[in-house]
Amino acid sequence: MVAQVIPVEDFDLVIFGGTGDLATRKILPGLYRRMLSGQMPKTSRIIAAARSDYDAEAFRKHVHDGLIEHVDKALLKKGDVDTFLGQLDYLQLDIFTEDGWKALGKMLRADVIRAFYFSVGPSLFGEIARRLVQFKLADRDARIVVEKPFGRDLETAKALNAELAECFAEHQVYRIDHYLGKETVQNLMAIRFGNALFEPLWNAQHVDHVQITASESLGVGGRGSYYDKSGAMRDMVQNHMMQLLCLTAMEPPSKFEANAVRDEKLKIIKALSPVAPNDVVRGQYSATGDKGSYLQDSENPESNTECFVAMKVEIANWRWAGTPFYLRTGKRLRNRLTEIAVVFKDPPHSIFDDTGTHLRGNALIIRLQPDEGITMRMTIKDPGPGGMRLREVPLDMTFAEALEGEDIDLPDAYERLIMDVIRGNQTLFMRGDEVEAAWDWIDPIINQWVEKGQKPIQYDSGGSGPDDALMIMHRDGRRWREIAQ
Ligand code: BG6
Repeated sequence: MVAQVIPVEDFDLVIFGGTGDLATRKILPGLYRRMLSGQMPKTSRIIAAARSDYDAEAFRKHVHDGLIEHVDKALLKKGDVDTFLGQLDYLQLDIFTEDGWKALGKMLRADVIRAFYFSVGPSLFGEIARRLVQFKLADRDARIVVEKPFGRDLETAKALNAELAECFAEHQVYRIDHYLGKETVQNLMAIRFGNALFEPLWNAQHVDHVQITASESLGVGGRGSYYDKSGAMRDMVQNHMMQLLCLTAMEPPSKFEANAVRDEKLKIIKALSPVAPNDVVRGQYSATGDKGSYLQDSENPESNTECFVAMKVEIANWRWAGTPFYLRTGKRLRNRLTEIAVVFKDPPHSIFDDTGTHLRGNALIIRLQPDEGITMRMTIKDPGPGGMRLREVPLDMTFAEALEGEDIDLPDAYERLIMDVIRGNQTLFMRGDEVEAAWDWIDPIINQWVEKGQKPIQYDSGGSGPDDALMIMHRDGRRWREIAQ
């Protein structure tokens, strides 16, 4: 079976900050792959607007180098690359002067979809939005795409939302959280709402707890001083982890449609209980071998910023009261692994008295990366003679194996999301009120740390975080799943 690719309508996409890191690593290689797949029309145009002193030729050379670095070699046929480069244009733009905006106006075509990607710091969002309106570059169907961080607390997020709302309607604003574009995140919804098997069990009566892990093996490396102003709570929990939690916990939306899904996610965020101080652990990695510690990488020996967080979260609603969600994310841990584990309750009674085996509950593990797939932990009889011995086995399915032989064209998160922008589908984007509600819940947790001047705990690089994080689970009689080698 050949994967179905439905071309999007013709568009002009302007990328502000189009020579930056995100554009070079993700956005432009992603668009190249969408062109190859036939989803992006060959007539569509991508205009980078940035301060760099480039012309169109220099920009194409820059993108060419970026493709070589970030796209699979097998996909880089000269003819295709040339076609793509031919779709690019460049505008040197100082957003504070008028000339550049007028020039941009001349470059844009009438009667095609216009999308403006703000791949710049949030301090410029308002100015760019105002200029787009002032110079009549954005019609009522135009879309703007903004990146995280969307504010650093409730107040700044509200201010950003208000600035954007002065110029654009909410249905025109696409707030990217790239986790929502990951294949398995959408599969989570397919598993929950496309199968009748799980839904009756998906509640506090049957689920003991849920653990969500986003573990990274890399440190903060070259972006240490930037990262130090943010930290794991703002960088990962407020957005990516929160989205995973919402999609796992939300009620079935009436439709797989933007506002229906976002309404349900918002209800979960609003139902989150305040987090007690001893239910959160923060950490910083220490040095190992030739790799520096977090304090060295962040170039701030006094830093109080965490690059690891583990926490216990409770959702105060009928479905989940009494079933905790444990979240854990950190840098320089043992492995790169992102997964959601839904751990079901132990069987109420064992009929296998003399096996000596404690019957553990089933667990459904949804793996986002690496090797996207699903595992179900089951208890079976140990094969062979010798009586009724039990053992646990994983019923394992990686999507790659299950769909082997099919010509699957799996777009990466950014490619998928950009195509959704052009299609006008906001289902996988965050609404303004969702972002604000998330900050409203996160702010008191961060404020407690600031008030107490609390230092993160040092943890060994290559491990699974500070021991205190284990304790969050142990004192509830539970264990984190291993971050396997
Ligand atoms: C980004 C964070 O949003 O997500 C990074 O700013 C983090 O700190 C990254 O490393 C993780 O994304 P992924 O897709 O590699 O899991």
